[in-house]
Amino acid sequence: MSVEYGEYLAAIGGCRSCHGLALAGDANPDAPDITVGRIGTWTEEDFFRSLRQGKRPDGSVIDPEKMPWVRSGQMTDEEVRAVWMYMRSLPAGEME
Ligand code: HEC
Repeated sequence: MSVEYGEYLAAIGGCRSCHGLALAGDANPDAPDITVGRIGTWTEEDFFRSLRQGKRPDGSVIDPEKMPWVRSGQMTDEEVRAVWMYMRSLPAGEME
């Protein structure tokens, strides 16, 4: 498990095609910044919950029609952790 593996998963998993190459939310107008600029206070557990249950730490629901978390939630624990490591390694986005 590594940052490089997470980057690869973010590419094939589609995260980058919506959240932008740098995951700062520049590809799809609805897709927010998911760098530390916006989710810097999230824990790894919060990230798991967002992908598996579609909930943000404040309990609000991530719209499954816009964000395919039902599919993303099927990634293995290792894969989710690798994407998380990759996200945390990126510079903070601008959108905060
Ligand atoms: C089809 C486009 C699309 C893809 C693919 C996608 N997302 Fe999203 N994502 C969105 C949209 C749009 C939202 C905001 C949904 C809303 O407004 O409820 C979102 C929300 C999120 C959030 C919640 C952020 C917040 O504070 O609102 C996280 C975390 C997230 N996505 C991570 C990922 C990861 C990791 C992947 C790849 C495994 C991914 N997304 C793939 C479109 C996408």
